[in-house]
Amino acid sequence: MEIFKQIAPLKAFLKSKKLAGKTVGLVPTMGALHEGHLTLIRASQNENDITVATIYVNPTQFNNPKDLLKYPRLLDKDTELLQEVQCDVLFCPADEEMYPEKSILTINFGPLNEVMEGKFRPGHFSGVALIVGKLFNIIEPDRAYFGQKDWQQFAVITRLVKELKYNLQLRSVPTLREPNGLALSSRNLRLTSEQRAKASVFHKALQEANINLLSGKSSSDVKRLVARSFYNDPEVRLEYFELADSENLNVVENVSASVRPIMCIAGYVGEVRLIDNMFLGENVAVSRV
Ligand code: PAF
Repeated sequence: MEIFKQIAPLKAFLKSKKLAGKTVGLVPTMGALHEGHLTLIRASQNENDITVATIYVNPTQFNNPKDLLKYPRLLDKDTELLQEVQCDVLFCPADEEMYPEKSILTINFGPLNEVMEGKFRPGHFSGVALIVGKLFNIIEPDRAYFGQKDWQQFAVITRLVKELKYNLQLRSVPTLREPNGLALSSRNLRLTSEQRAKASVFHKALQEANINLLSGKSSSDVKRLVARSFYNDPEVRLEYFELADSENLNVVENVSASVRPIMCIAGYVGEVRLIDNMFLGENVAVSRV
């Protein structure tokens, strides 16, 4: 695996590959890699000649400085994992390479920004778009791969690509889960084993909401039921549950008001913030690890 910390040699390397007709897949990550990330790598390897993984904990997307400080950083272990799955290139820049001066650009996604993660994490998607845009400009991939767990992020990046006319295809890859249903996430490393067990409440709530919505209950009734499933344990806190249109993220009151509704949930277990989602009617059993 080729490892680059600087932009210029990475670009030169990729240019030579592109001149030789090779296609490039990009898997952007913040490290602390798990099986979900490796699934993204494999998806890229299936469709591209060269797969570039990036590891960079992007400061501009953290609205909570404590969260940035505590984000797990495991570069040596991550490098080994990427070598094991035969990833071709790792780009792991330092802050000075990605932000040589303090960024003053903000990107406002309007309505996509005003709901769910955008509402609870002000500035988050501006930071995501800033770093993903930089990576697209540096790597110029043919395809880029993102996990479905961050669905709102995927919707925002889809809009970024469309509006700024990036010449690439985006792929969303289904979420992998622990046996208890907890979505794989780098943040799970911060949970104790007891907390991990408790964190299954998010997936369970989505499954129950799925059944209730499909059986005709209104979105507001289902919201109340979801909130109730969080009452019993003070360590587990619901931030939001929304039923939304998966493309424009408009909140949907009635399942028939959207072609492809998605249920999104977020909250805390202890100090750790977790998110998850499920398309209405989705069969999630297939994506377990
Ligand atoms: O999903 C993530 O891990 C991050 O938001 C991303 C896309 C790597 C940008 O920092």
